[in-house]
Amino acid sequence: AVPAVAVAVAGAMSVFVTRRIPAEGLRVLSQASGCRVRQWDSEEPVPRAELLAGVAGTRGLLCLLSDRIDREVLDAAGPDLKVISTLSVGFDHLALDEIKKRGIRVGYTPEVLTDATAELSVALLLSACRRLPEAAEQVKSGGWTTWKPLWMCGHGLSDSTVGIIGLGRIGQAVARRLKPFGVRKFLYTGSGPKPESAAEFGAEFVPLARLAEESDFVVVTCALTPATQGMCNKDFFAKMKKTSVFVNTSRGAVVNQEDLYQALAQGQIAAAGLDVTTPEPLPTDHPLLSLKNCVILPHIGSATYATRSTMAVLAAKNLLAGLRGEPMPQELKL
Ligand code: NDP
Ligand code: DGY
Repeated sequence: AVPAVAVAVAGAMSVFVTRRIPAEGLRVLSQASGCRVRQWDSEEPVPRAELLAGVAGTRGLLCLLSDRIDREVLDAAGPDLKVISTLSVGFDHLALDEIKKRGIRVGYTPEVLTDATAELSVALLLSACRRLPEAAEQVKSGGWTTWKPLWMCGHGLSDSTVGIIGLGRIGQAVARRLKPFGVRKFLYTGSGPKPESAAEFGAEFVPLARLAEESDFVVVTCALTPATQGMCNKDFFAKMKKTSVFVNTSRGAVVNQEDLYQALAQGQIAAAGLDVTTPEPLPTDHPLLSLKNCVILPHIGSATYATRSTMAVLAAKNLLAGLRGEPMPQELKL
C-alpha cells in the first residue's frame, strides 16, 4: 500500500487527489495559494478504505473514473466537501442525485479529450475491420507463408454505412475523421434529432433498430445512462449484418458482453473493437479474449501525453475555481 502523501501545506482549501496524475495538474494545485493537497500517490487505484479516510474533512476531491463516488464516500467526506472534480468527461461513476442534494459542485473534462478519443476510435475500428492484431500475430507465428488472395481479408469503409450511437462531441469527431475514408452514409441515434450537428455529415437520425440493420459499422460514443445501459444486446446484435463491425469507446456497460460474445462466436457479426469493458480490467480468461475477431484495448481513448496533461490541468482548475466560489472552466450542470 502506498500512503497518502501531503505534497503542500498551506491554508484552508484542503483537497484530496485520488491518484498520481500528470505533474502539470498537480502543480496547479500545489502552487495555488491556500491549497493543501493530500494525494494517493500511486499508479494503482486508491483502496476503498484509503479513499474513505482520505476524503474525511476535505473541501475538494479530485477523482478518477475508477473511483465510485457514492453516498458512503460523501458521508465519509462530511459537510465540508464543496467540489468534486473528475479527471474525465464521463460522470457515470458519480452519484449525481446525492451530490446535488448536498449542494456539491462538479467539474469534468469535456472537449479537451475529444480529438484523442475520436482518433483512438478510428484506430480501433480499422484494427477490427482490417484484422490488424490477428494479421500481425501471423507474421510473428510463421502463419505468413506467402501472399494469398483469400487470406486475411476484412471489411473496408469505402461506400459503407456508418451508424453512430450518440452523436455528441466524440461521435461527431469520429464521423469527421471517417468521412474521408469514403463513407457513403451516416446514421445516428440518440435522445432526439440534432440537425445542426448532423448537417456536416448529412447524417440521418434513425431508431436504434434501423441503425443496427443498416450499418456496416456501428460506433458507440454515447454516455452511460440508465437508458443506454445494456442497450447493445442480443436483439441489437441479431439485427446487425453478418458483415458488420461493432466498436465501443463509451463505457463497457452499454454492451451486454455475453450477448456480444455469442454474436461474435456464432458469426452473427464480423468483428468488434472495444476500448471499454465490464469490468475493467477485463479478466485475462474472459471468453471475449479468446476470439480472433474481437480487438480489446485497456481504456486508452484519451491516452495521449498532451491530452492527459491538459485534462489534469483542467481538472485542477475546475477544482480551484469551485473552491473559490468562481465559475469553473468546465462545470457539469446538475
Ligand atoms: P457528449 O455529452 O458530447 O455526448 C454523449 C452523447 O450520448 C450525446 O450525443 C447523447 O445524445 C448520447 N446519448 C445520451 N442518451 C442516449 C441514448 N439513449 N441513445 C443514444 N445516445 C444517447 O459526450 P462526449 O462525446 O464528450 O463523451 C461521450 C462518452 O464517451 C463519455 O460519457 C464517456 O463515457 C466516453 N468516453 C470514453 C473515453 C475512452 O477513453 N474510451 C474517453 C472520453 C469519453 P443526445 O444529445 O441525443 O442525448
Ligand atoms: C473519460 O474521460 O470519460 C474517459 O473514459 C477517459 O478519458
